[in-house]
Amino acid sequence: MILYMAVGRFISAVRHSSCLTYQYRFYGTTMTSLLVPPVSVRGMTCLDRDAFTTVVNVPTLKLCSSVVSTIMQVLKKYLLKICNFKPIQKTNEGIIIYLNPNIVTKFEDITENDRKLLMDQYEHFDFMSITMKYDNWRRDEILKSILPEDIQVPTAYTLVGHIAQLNLRDVHLPYKTIIGQIFLDKTPNVRTVVNKMNTIDTKFRYFAMEILAGEKNTITITKEHGCTYEFDFATVYWNSRLSTEHTRMTTFMMQDDVLYDVFAGVGPFAIPAARKKIQVFANDLNPESYKWLQKNAAANKLKNNFKAFNMDGRDFLRNIVKDDILSRRAQNLPGSEHIIMNLPASAIEFLDILPDWFTHEEFKKVCLKPLIFHVYCFVKANKTDNVCKLGRLLVEQKLGYILSTDAIVNIQDIRDVAPNKEMVRVSFLLKESMLKDKEPAMKKLKIEMNNM
Ligand SMILES: C[S@@+](CC[C@H](N)C(=O)[O-])C[C@H]1O[C@@H](n2cnc3c(N)ncnc32)[C@H](O)[C@@H]1O
Repeated sequence: MILYMAVGRFISAVRHSSCLTYQYRFYGTTMTSLLVPPVSVRGMTCLDRDAFTTVVNVPTLKLCSSVVSTIMQVLKKYLLKICNFKPIQKTNEGIIIYLNPNIVTKFEDITENDRKLLMDQYEHFDFMSITMKYDNWRRDEILKSILPEDIQVPTAYTLVGHIAQLNLRDVHLPYKTIIGQIFLDKTPNVRTVVNKMNTIDTKFRYFAMEILAGEKNTITITKEHGCTYEFDFATVYWNSRLSTEHTRMTTFMMQDDVLYDVFAGVGPFAIPAARKKIQVFANDLNPESYKWLQKNAAANKLKNNFKAFNMDGRDFLRNIVKDDILSRRAQNLPGSEHIIMNLPASAIEFLDILPDWFTHEEFKKVCLKPLIFHVYCFVKANKTDNVCKLGRLLVEQKLGYILSTDAIVNIQDIRDVAPNKEMVRVSFLLKESMLKDKEPAMKKLKIEMNNM
């Protein structure tokens, strides 16, 4: 009897809250959640945490004994798992186990086999009221309850140091302040929430951002593969999605090698390479990147094998890189040289320095040892396209030279940037075969192409 009364109470509570629903999956079936914030919060734009308080009826089991360990194996899958709430509670009357009303609406929802295992272990099954507050709701539950039903909940964010970076759509913008506040409250280690704006500084590649909530401070510290980076996220380029590529390249370079990082940013290729005792020349035109690059070199305790430059990439290649390569050849130093060019929107344009970079004689000497270009580019491609092949074609077009199989070191699909846009790295060796007659073939082809 007690049981039926309790179930009746529970069903009426469900009916009252049925306007605000939440889909979840249980054993592969999509169901409507009974645990939802109050309907009144829908459309809220200014965060009122108290408005999320509601009373919910949940199923409970009162145990006979205080030994819960064996029974827990059976009950684990039925437990009420919500934030800041203990589903097993010791009270003066004994131990109460709180179950999830989305899974157990009546005692028979516990499987027959489990019910047998529970036999003699519990005193009674009942429904009890619990008060759920803002602290008990998850971020996505709160967002889902406030946003209009036809708007998708923003779930994705990137964590850069203490900053959570969101990429809100236009439909979210009327709610951006409350979304920012909820992310701030509900995301561990976040002290500032920013929204990426549509505009990207085309020169230095960092994007405009708006602070939505938290500290008005975009200077942050983050770690990547054991190195520490400090920078102002609002004025320099940083992309956590490149972390695998940064490691891949650092692993690829060996101790006697040299790295010329033409578009170094705040150092995610250059600093780990220098930590590996590789000789590094790191350059960036953005004075802010250059400032943080130097700071990061010091913070990561780099010594004489690291030099930073604040020049245009072409000048860096034509002067610093050229002089160093020639000096290395004069000393017959071992190891390979790596020229990393991570400015995918325009790095291939910088290959136009090649025809006049060295004299014919110098070019032949340079090619005696491995000099590898690692050029990043954006490729427009459909899902079925071979993006690596397209990346190679782009580079070949710019060089005016078909890369032979032995000139290709590696071509890597790095990441998808947007629908139908992929980032690719083409790594190739500078080859003597690029020389034809007395002039580099590239120069000839370039002249021919210009005359066309
Ligand atoms: C895509 S970011 C890459 C940064 C870094 N290598 C990384 O992986 O995170 C490109 C960098 O190139 C710099 N840059 C843009 N134009 C440049 C130029 N003409 N010469 C040198 N650096 C340039 C930007 O300031 C930016 O830091």
